[in-house]
Amino acid sequence: MVLRDLPWRKRRTPWRVFVSEVMLQQTQVSRVAEKFPAFLRRFPTPKRLASSCEQDVLSLWQGLGYYRRAKNLHAAAKIITARFGGRVPQTSHELQSLPGIGRYSAGAIASIAFGQAAPIVDGNVVRVLSRLADWRESTKGNIANEWLWSTAEKFVCGAKSPAVLNEALMELGATVCVPKNPRCMVCPVRVCCAAFKANSQEFVPLKQTAVPRRTVVHHAFVEIRKGTMGVQTRPAKGLWAGMLSPPVFESATVCNARKLLRERPEIKRIEQFRGEFEFLTTHRTIRIRVYAVEFCSQAKLRWIELEKLKKYAVSNAVLRIADAAAKK
Ligand code: ADE
Repeated sequence: MVLRDLPWRKRRTPWRVFVSEVMLQQTQVSRVAEKFPAFLRRFPTPKRLASSCEQDVLSLWQGLGYYRRAKNLHAAAKIITARFGGRVPQTSHELQSLPGIGRYSAGAIASIAFGQAAPIVDGNVVRVLSRLADWRESTKGNIANEWLWSTAEKFVCGAKSPAVLNEALMELGATVCVPKNPRCMVCPVRVCCAAFKANSQEFVPLKQTAVPRRTVVHHAFVEIRKGTMGVQTRPAKGLWAGMLSPPVFESATVCNARKLLRERPEIKRIEQFRGEFEFLTTHRTIRIRVYAVEFCSQAKLRWIELEKLKKYAVSNAVLRIADAAAKK
């Protein structure tokens, strides 16, 4: 089994490992691979990130989603600079004192960047360990959690290289021990895999019954004037906090345009409904309905060039809103 050739695996400095692990939280490897190089060129050290403004950080995070991570990374860089002399701390315990670094990321950084015998358990590792042991119980809850972390710890403590062991576990889960149709025939550890022996790999680990996502409707009001779009800074809390977006109004269900006008006095008139799309977050399905509108002159808006939209701190949903509004 060969490790995938990924940008953060070249020149492994602690800072590059740190940033990559934060980016990889809940985000696909391919997406991170696209965004990682530019971010590191701009913020090559914790100090450089610490001294940048939040809007710059958010705009380089554009497309990675879950923007709270970018804010936490920014805050962590400030702490690393102020409290750890600009060097990423080495132990899982110290790493977990930084914002946005949980047990998994701390273990990954401590082992990969510093060779510490710190365990990691994420979705991939859960699958690998459950199959190796043919674990037929739920993988959620305290008992499973304790078993998973203590098993990962036994593995990493027994390994010659904690970094190699942990990355091998991640890689095996991502490329061979995959959820559907696991590739047992090319698996280097199938001889010691209890699930393979019992032929239970298709249903171990047990499927969780999914909690249905709540659906909400977001009405996005867009005016485009001479190639610019009217935006506001979103509230400091909640979805896309502190980022730019056209004014958005949330409702539990789809409602008619006249009601929307009553709720939003800064809108002079709604010109046209421009279509809708779905945007998924961890817990919600957001139906985003896009309206071309004309704002009143008093509306507090900032006008930014559509062509430069990607350079600002905006979510991918806002790019899609702009596309829908600008389409002829
Ligand atoms: N997911 C989390 N950390 C990772 C890493 N270092 N390599 C590949 N996938 C990962």
